[in-house]
Amino acid sequence: MTGNEPTLCVENLQTYFYTKSGVIKAVDDVSFTVDKGEVLGLVGESGSGKSVTGFSILGLVDPPGRIAGGRIRFKGHSLTTLPEKEWRNLRGSRISMVFQDPMMTLNPVLRIDTQMIEAVTAHENISRQEARTRARDALGQVGIPSPDERLKAYPHQFSGGMRQRVAFSIALINKPDLIIADEPTTALDVTIQAQILHEAQKLCRDTGTALIWITHDLTVIAGLSDRVCVMYAGRIVEAGGINQVLDTPHHPYTYGLIGSVPSRNKRGAPLAQIAGMTPSLLNLPPGCAFRQRCPRASRACLTEPEIHELKDGRAVRCFHPYEEEATA
Ligand SMILES: Nc1ncnc2c1ncn2[C@@H]1O[C@H](COP(=O)(O)OP(=O)(O)OP(=O)(O)O)[C@@H](O)[C@H]1O
Ligand code: SF4
Ligand SMILES: [Mg+2]
Repeated sequence: MTGNEPTLCVENLQTYFYTKSGVIKAVDDVSFTVDKGEVLGLVGESGSGKSVTGFSILGLVDPPGRIAGGRIRFKGHSLTTLPEKEWRNLRGSRISMVFQDPMMTLNPVLRIDTQMIEAVTAHENISRQEARTRARDALGQVGIPSPDERLKAYPHQFSGGMRQRVAFSIALINKPDLIIADEPTTALDVTIQAQILHEAQKLCRDTGTALIWITHDLTVIAGLSDRVCVMYAGRIVEAGGINQVLDTPHHPYTYGLIGSVPSRNKRGAPLAQIAGMTPSLLNLPPGCAFRQRCPRASRACLTEPEIHELKDGRAVRCFHPYEEEATA
């Protein structure tokens, strides 16, 4: 790995599900990078392809799905051409995921200490006592009070927010280079989400861990992520620095998401509802996938827009993006 190489580089990723009813292009032509210690927010409504993007990076896409195209490079090495065994070795050690459902990470019948010690000793040759100390410190780091006591608890003895912290501390325990955190879509309050992300961001900055934070709520990552990629129907429609995107959204979908949030950077403010529904990925209309919900749609939008790089590392996939003056 050269000094300038990002931790993760995803290029034109396509992950498709070959179902009986047809091909579902869950992730289509997705590209982004994440640098050491950087937090990238991946935002979009339900079904936009966020989790499938995360699973693709981990090599966890099961049939009928598969990576149909593109490249994923991790610290300069291609993951997409890696044999399954080596990809598996990276999971849990160099790359970890906090799943949308923390119970996918946590085993309900095992005490937290058993699970955390196992996570360490699976990848490192250290004594159980040392592993236990590391587990206790990791719990403390994510804001779990009395970590010595809490190590003896079972997952169901934690609240939803605490359980997510535990899952995050397990993800962090081997000091991975990359963590993909998939925020639960339900149950947890956005303020709690933002608190957990705030702690995660500090820890990742300190260790140089790159972090991808998946959320359906832009307000959660406001002020906490460095950059954001907004996904719609399997594609990135807008990308850029979080503050720039929040202040001057270019894509009509992003604009709709944040347009009526009273204070754009206010966490916990309700998200704007955009009229209409996400189109089915099985029957995407020709042209821009947002066309039927878009107030700026024109005849040009019957053709599919390409993503355009703009200045300041921003990008937008739209024929009629809002300009800075229009949204300032
Ligand atoms: N195993 C599967 N078989 C068929 N289609 C799938 C499968 N898994 C995911 N998909 C499809 O891929 C699309 C993207 O799903 P994904 O789970 O990535 O969405 P998401 O953005 O994470 O949504 P949410 O916010 O609800 O978690 C969806 O349309 C979904 O129906
Ligand atoms: S390409 Fe057209 S339909 Fe699509 S978001 Fe832009 S203006 Fe709207
Ligand atoms: Mg998801």
